[in-house]
This record gives sequence, structure tokens and C-alpha cells, in this order.
Amino acid sequence: MINDKQVLYSGMQATGNLTIGNYLGALKNWLTLNEEYECFFGVMDLHSLTVRQNPAEFRKKAKNLFILYIAAGLDPKKNCIYFQSHVSAHAELAWLLNCFTYVGELNRMTQFKDKAAKHKDNINAGLFTYPVLMAADILLYQADFVPVGKDQKQHLEITRDIAERVNAVYGDVFTVPEPFFGKAGTKIMSLQEPTQKMSKSDENPNGSIYLMDDPDTIVRKFKRAVTDSFSEIRYSEEQPGVSNLLEIYSACSGTPIADAEKEFEGRGYGEFKEAVAEAVISVLKPMQDEYARLSGEKAYIDGLIRENDEKAAYYANKTLRKVRKKMGLNEIPR
Ligand code: TRP
Repeated sequence: MINDKQVLYSGMQATGNLTIGNYLGALKNWLTLNEEYECFFGVMDLHSLTVRQNPAEFRKKAKNLFILYIAAGLDPKKNCIYFQSHVSAHAELAWLLNCFTYVGELNRMTQFKDKAAKHKDNINAGLFTYPVLMAADILLYQADFVPVGKDQKQHLEITRDIAERVNAVYGDVFTVPEPFFGKAGTKIMSLQEPTQKMSKSDENPNGSIYLMDDPDTIVRKFKRAVTDSFSEIRYSEEQPGVSNLLEIYSACSGTPIADAEKEFEGRGYGEFKEAVAEAVISVLKPMQDEYARLSGEKAYIDGLIRENDEKAAYYANKTLRKVRKKMGLNEIPR
């Protein structure tokens, strides 16, 4: 508990361009959580280093993610939005937790297996211990809740196992976090392969709408979006392409899916796709304007980063001191 509120923790890796899938599926649902919870949202830049990064680009990407969080509507005074790498307790706790994590359980992580298969030339130890760093992120803040998508569920489970293992040895050290099922985020699929999740690291840029895409690009991508051969705008499993477009339209316009089906009854795909593009543009445009404005306010942004880093470090170091003591590391008064 912090300020009599339960703690909620989440974050995104600082790689790739965020897509409307990241926004509609996660970020949008984070915006009001601070009313009920003490919220921490990280720019997970240490995790990003499991893949080779160009230093200059990487520095920009991570900062852009921070600005984007705020442009999307996360209030940096009411949420602790900070850089994972600026709080050294993350790396330190990750080491300590490494000693309480079994190779066997890491070997069972499906994301590791997938990533190792994709990046055969760089199967580094960081990729293998990725879930341990993630456990450190969450446990440092004694988080009660972690909103995660399906792909991160296994990582939250191992976090709980590690927390319980440490608690069993040393007594009450960590809060064991629960998955957070708030209002379900919308799962957005690729526009080109509607049975696959829209991904920020997709090789085909036409499959994803990036938060920074300009209106022309958005219109063009929707025009090319894969539909189905039923020539009917209806939400159904046999029509993954059309259903995905309906989801996007509904999430961006606030129209329930059933109403949207009626709205487009008897109308063609062309018209429908234009309407979807318009709805998306109306959501992204204000965000992009705010992003551009904030990007010009360097001193203000740096001030926010400093402030939030400090707040995060305060809570993280409190937990780290407790863990060090429980594990029997020497403390010498200075
Ligand atoms: N692994 C998460 C992802 O790729 C990002 C992440 C890192 C995270 N640490 C976290 C998410 C802690 C929630 C909590 O989406």
C-alpha cells in the first residue's frame, strides 16, 4: 500500500513504434487507474537491450516513449512514469532474484523459446533471464496488480513463484502480485494478417497503424487492409479481417459493435474502411499534436523525468534495503 492505495505496476519496452494495438489494448486503459491505485508505469529500456540497439536511436526511442505516455493522457503528476534504467535497484534486485530462479523454469518460458528461435544469432543470457528482471520491476514496488496481456501471463506467473519462494525462506518480503483484469483492452490484429496480433515489430509496416502515422498513411493502410470474401460487414469468426476493422472502429468511435454493424449494413468495404480510418485519425490527431508540443518542451520533460525517477527510486530502494537485510548482506553504518 502507498498512500492507502493498492499498487499497480506496468510498463512497455522502449523498442519499436507503438501501434494502435498498444494504445487500445493497454495504454488507453491505464489512463484512469490512478483514481483507484497508486500507479507506476515504466519505460522498460533495460529489457530492450536484450536485442541490439543503435545507441543514438535507442536514446531517442526511450525518451519518445516517455513523451508518448504523457501525450496519450497519462498524468505524470498522478502516476509515477519513469525510466527503468534510471533506478539501479532494478538491476540489483534482478541479480538477487536470479539466485532464486531455476534454469528449468526459465527454460519453460514460451516467449524465450519464440525469441530464441527468431534471433538465433543473439541468444544472450539477458533474453533468458528477461522474466527475472521483470519480476524485479514488479516486486520492487510491492505491486498488488499488474495489467498484462496474454503474452505476458507466464511472466507474471513466474514472478509470483519467485516472490513466494523468497517469502518462504525469509518471511514476508514481497507482496505477491495478481494479474489485473480491468476493463478488457481490445485486442487489435494485423491489418494484413488478421489472425496475428498487430505488432510494433512487424516487418510489414502495412499490417500496423503506428501512433505517429499521418492521416494519409492511415487512410492508405486501411484501404489495403485485408477483408474477407463475404462482402458483408458483420462481426464473426469467419471474417477476422472485417471483425478486426469493426473492433478498431468501435474502440475509436465509442460505437458498440452491434450498432456499427447496423450503421454499415448494405454499405461497401470501401466506404467502411474510410470510416474506420476517419475514426482512428480523430483519436490519433490530438495525441500527435500534444506529442509534438511536448517534444519541444525539453526542460519541462527532463524535469518530469527527474521528479518521477526520484519518486520511483524512493520506493524501489526501500524494498531493496529490506531484501538485502533479509538475505544477510552486510550493512556497515557510514
Ligand atoms: N515484458 C513486457 C512487455 O514486453 C514489458 C515489461 C517489462 C513489463 N517489465 C514489466 C510489463 C513489468 C509489466 C510489468 O510487454
